[in-house]
Formats: sequence, structure tokens, C-alpha cells
Amino acid sequence: MATHRIAVLGGDGIGPEVVAEGLKVLDALEGLEGFSTERADYDLGGRRYRATGEVLSDDTLEQLRGFDAIYLGAVGTPDVPPGVIERGLLLKLRFAFDQYVNLRPVKLYPGVESPIAGLTPERCDFVVVRENTESVYAGAGGTLYRGTAAEVATQESINTRHGVERVLRFAFEQATVRDGRLTLCHKINVLTNAGDLWWRAFNEVGEDDFPDVERDYVHVDAACLYFVTQPERFDVVVTENLFGDIITDLGAAIQGGMGLAASGNLDPTRRAPSMFEPVHGSAPDIAGQNTADPTAAVMSLAQMLAFLGEAGAAARVDRAIGVWLSERGDRQGRLGYSTSEAGDRLAQLVAD
Ligand code: IPM
Ligand code: MN
Repeated sequence: MATHRIAVLGGDGIGPEVVAEGLKVLDALEGLEGFSTERADYDLGGRRYRATGEVLSDDTLEQLRGFDAIYLGAVGTPDVPPGVIERGLLLKLRFAFDQYVNLRPVKLYPGVESPIAGLTPERCDFVVVRENTESVYAGAGGTLYRGTAAEVATQESINTRHGVERVLRFAFEQATVRDGRLTLCHKINVLTNAGDLWWRAFNEVGEDDFPDVERDYVHVDAACLYFVTQPERFDVVVTENLFGDIITDLGAAIQGGMGLAASGNLDPTRRAPSMFEPVHGSAPDIAGQNTADPTAAVMSLAQMLAFLGEAGAAARVDRAIGVWLSERGDRQGRLGYSTSEAGDRLAQLVAD
């Protein structure tokens, strides 16, 4: 029997609440699908930083490296300056473990109302493959003459052939197991240096190694338009880090909101653990009220199980989510069900 070692990072705000519901679902699955997990809780995030002054020690980072996967809720508190937890914890984990793919599905489930009038599930089912270790997120740049009238700030976008090519290959592979269509999303008409690298690599990798995948290109601004007007245009979308961050919030909106947006930060080489987290943040305004929607956290759990090779368990969770979203109807999220009721129902449904 396979045993998976999972580090659980509930984090801040609603993070621990939604992760608890995901773990309920995981508990229910373990008896059913012939695998087990060993879990260790790590207290990390803004609250802990305020209490101890520490964001992430080298020792903790090395401990985390030893797990098969990381299950993360959300990190960040309003009383910590912007960037401290984002760069010191979340991005640090993505970079240290070389999780170079951020895989974010955009799928409208039956029974969920999209803010786009008349949008049907048949027209909205794609995945975004976001590059996760480069671009402006790499942190290149700096500030000169800070606080003076002559202040200069630069924030550079790093794009390496190695980094671009490996994420493109992952995206092409995704397309081969989906509908065979891959769209590059960039801004090659303005970002002519980075865009040129991405464009050439996209065409070279496609022509040489994935000739059966249909290639398309959209500028990122047009992608925002098409996400809303023609989501059926997309099967797999591949893009650089910052564009991917932005367009996946739009993707979350069209599929019914942040409560339904899942993500996996993947190291496809499996040298280090991959990390699974809902796209939403810590939502301090509704923390502790048992009103957060845990669905995205449970969807992220399904991604984790699939990545760990537990296809049967992942399929059970997908099916349970489908039933849950159609039965809860317009009583979505905080309007009708509490966080724990949602988790209880999902844990029940995976056993059906
Ligand atoms: C996300 C988040 C992060 C990002 C922040 C919290 C650093 O917005 O996962 O999309 O920008 O990647
Ligand atoms: Mn984001």
C-alpha cells in the first residue's frame, strides 16, 4: 500500500478552515482507495511571523523538501507589510522546490452560475499552464535614491530558454491528453525580447516534438476579452508568470468565483515536493466564521492526489465536487452552507 507523506500548511485567515475540510475528504478516501498518508502540520504564515519574527527557517525549508507533497491553505495577514510573506514564504517555496508549473483549471461545472450570461459547461473547460519561477517574480531589479525626487525603481522580467522550454513542454504534453490545442498567451508585439524567446521556443518545440498539437497565439489583452466572450476557444493556455497570475483570476471569475479555483505548483521532475493550494487568499474579513467555501481547497486536493498517482481517489473527488456543485444550486458558499457542512457533504459524497 502506498503511503504519501504530506506537509500541511494551513496558514492564515480562512486557510486552516478550508484545509481542514480538505483533510476530512482525504480521511474518507484513505479507507476506500488503498493508500494512506502521513501528515505533518507546519505553522507558517503572517500570524506566526508576527509572533516569532520568523517567516521560514532554512531548517523548516529542508524538512519540507522531504515530503511527497505540500497541501497549503492561504498565507498572509493585513498587519504584515506586502511582500514579506509572499516573497519570504510562498514564492520562496515555489522557487526553492523549482515548482516551475502552476496548473490552474478553468472549468464551469453544471449547476454553477457564471457571471457571463448564458455560459454553459460545454463552452468553458480549459487549463492555464502558468510559468512559475521566472518573469518579474524572479525579483530582479532594484531601487536607487529611494525616497528622493530622483528615485528610480526597476523590476526586470527574467526569461531563460531553459525555463521557457520546460514549461512549454509540459503544456504541450497537457494538450496531447486533452483536446490537442495549445494557445500561447503573451505580448510579443511590445515585449519584443521576452516575447521573441517565447515565440521561437513555442514554435520550435511544437514543430519538432508535438506536431499533432494545434498551435494558436493570443496577446494577453485579447486573451482577457476571449476568456469572457469565447472561452471555448481555449483548451490549454501557456503563459509567463505575471500574465498567468492575472488571467487566472479572470479565469476564476468566469468559472464561478475564487471559491472554485484550484491550483497545483508542480515540479514535474519530482525532485522536490509539489504544492497544492486554492487560488484564493486568506480572506481575513471572513476568517473564523465558518463561511468560507472549501471547494477550491478540495479541488486542489484532487490535483494533489492525481499528481501522487492516486487516479482513483482523484476521480472520486472530481465526481463528488460535480454532485456537490449541482446539488447546492444557488445556495453557494456563504449564502447557504457553512464551511464544515460543505466538507462533511463532500466527504460523504466521495464514498458513494
Ligand atoms: C497567486 C497569488 C500569488 C502570486 C501572490 C500571493 C504572491 O496571487 O498564487 O496567484 O502572485 O502568484
Ligand atoms: Mn494571483
